[in-house]
Amino acid sequence: MNFYIKTYGCQMNVNDSEKIRHILESRGGHHCQNESQADIIIINSCAVREKAQEKIFSYIGRISSDKKIIVAGCVAQSEKKAILSRSPAVDFILGTHQYSRIHSVIDLIANQNTKEVWAGFTKKWVELYPDSESRTSAVSGYISIMEGCNNFCSYCIVPFTRGREKYRPYEKILEEAAYLSDKGYKEIVLLGQNVNNWEDRINRKTFPQLLGILAEKTRVRWIRFITSYPGYFDEELIEVMSQYKNITRHIHFPAQSGSTRVLKKMNRSYRRKDYIQIVNRFKRKIPEMKFSSDFIVGFPGESRYDFQLTLSLIRHVEYESVFSFVYSPRNYTRSFLQPDNVPLEVKKDRLYELQKIQEEIQLKNNRKLIGQIVEVLITRKNPKRQGEVIGRTESHRVVNFRSGALAGEFRPVLIENVGPHSLRGVDIG
Ligand code: SAH
Ligand code: SF4
Ligand code: F3S
Repeated sequence: MNFYIKTYGCQMNVNDSEKIRHILESRGGHHCQNESQADIIIINSCAVREKAQEKIFSYIGRISSDKKIIVAGCVAQSEKKAILSRSPAVDFILGTHQYSRIHSVIDLIANQNTKEVWAGFTKKWVELYPDSESRTSAVSGYISIMEGCNNFCSYCIVPFTRGREKYRPYEKILEEAAYLSDKGYKEIVLLGQNVNNWEDRINRKTFPQLLGILAEKTRVRWIRFITSYPGYFDEELIEVMSQYKNITRHIHFPAQSGSTRVLKKMNRSYRRKDYIQIVNRFKRKIPEMKFSSDFIVGFPGESRYDFQLTLSLIRHVEYESVFSFVYSPRNYTRSFLQPDNVPLEVKKDRLYELQKIQEEIQLKNNRKLIGQIVEVLITRKNPKRQGEVIGRTESHRVVNFRSGALAGEFRPVLIENVGPHSLRGVDIG
C-alpha cells in the first residue's frame, strides 16, 4: 500500500502526520515522496482560518480520480460529513482523536465503497509516538504533551477541533524524550495548545517541574515548548528556565492584542498589564530572553486606539518574530455571529502597518548581530546554493551560511549581513 500525507497547519498536525505514517509503515505501508506515486492520499487539514480551510478543498480538486482520499485533521473534525457533500471525491473522514485506527480505515476503503466519518472524541490520552524513521526531521523532534483547549477564545475553532485539554502522562513524555536523545536528536519541542497548563495529577508534576526534569535528564541540547498561554503563567517557569541552559531562551507567547478591551472581547483571561509584567519579569531574571507572538488584527470592535496599543506592545517587547493575521470569522465560535464594524480594507491596512513595524524591529535587532558570533544548529543543506547550509539560532532565527558541516551540528557562525527575516554568515569553527 502506497500512501502520501499532505500536511497543513501547526506543529501538532506535523507530529500527528508522523504518527499516522509510523502506524502505516509499521504495518508494511510505503510512504511516498509525492502524490503521483501514491494510491492513497491522506490530507491532514487545518481549520484555524477560512483560508487554511479552503486550501484543502482546492487541493482535493487537483488530485487525480484514481486515488483514494482520506481527510484527517481539524477540518475533518469540525466539518465532518459536510466535507463529503462538498467534495464527493473524498472516501473517508477521520477526526483528530481517531488516528490510532488509521490502518482499519485503509482496509475499509480498499474493500468497499461506503464512505464513513469517524470523528468521535476520546476521553483519555492515546499513547503513541513515531520512531525516528517516520519523522520529518532527524535533528529536531516533536513531543506532544497535551492536546485540546479549555479556553474558548471567542474567535477560535481549536476547542472544537481538538476537544478539551488532555495531558499525556509524565513517564511517557520522559520515555519519548529519552528515545529521541538516544537517536541523536539535538533539539526537542514539547507540543500542545496550552503547554503551560500541562499537569500530571497522579505523579504530582506541574509544567515547570516537567521542564526541569527533562532539562536534567535528557542529553538533548535545546529544549523548546509551544504554545504557552499568557493567562496561566507561573513564576516557577521563569525560575526553572533561569536554572537550565538547555531550555532555550526563547518563548512563543501569543498576546493576540495589546488592548485589554479587545482581550476581554476575545475572552483571553489576562490584561495588557499582566502580559507586560510577565515579559518584564522574564527580562529581569533572564536578560537574554527572547519572545515571539501571534496577533489578530481587526477583531470586531477593535478601534484605531486599540490597534495602537497593539503596536506599542510590539515596540515594547521587541519580538524576535511575529505571526499576524486578519481576523477570520469561524463557524461554531462565539464571535462568529457578532456584528463586525471594522471594514476589511481597514483590517488589511492595519495588518500591513503592524508587519512593517515588526520588520523594522527585526532589521534593527538583526543589524546588531553583524560582526558577532552566534551559535547555530544546522537543520539542512541549502538546496539552492552549493557549500551553504541553513540553520537556526537559539531564538529561532534563520541563518544561511557557508560551511562544510552537516545537519545536526552546532556551529559558531560569524554574521556578515542581515535582512529582517534572516542572517547570513560563515562558519568559523
Ligand atoms: N493555542 C494557541 C493558538 C493556536 S491557533 C494560543 O492560544 O496562542 C494559532 C494562531 O492563529 C492564534 O494564536 C491566533 O493568532 C490565530 N487565530 C486563531 N483563530 C483565528 C481567527 N479566527 N482569525 C484569525 N487568526 C486566528
Ligand atoms: Fe484557541 Fe485560545 Fe485555545 Fe489558543 S488558547 S487554542 S487561541 S481557544
Ligand atoms: Fe490548525 Fe488544528 Fe493546528 S486548526 S493550527 S491544525 S490545531
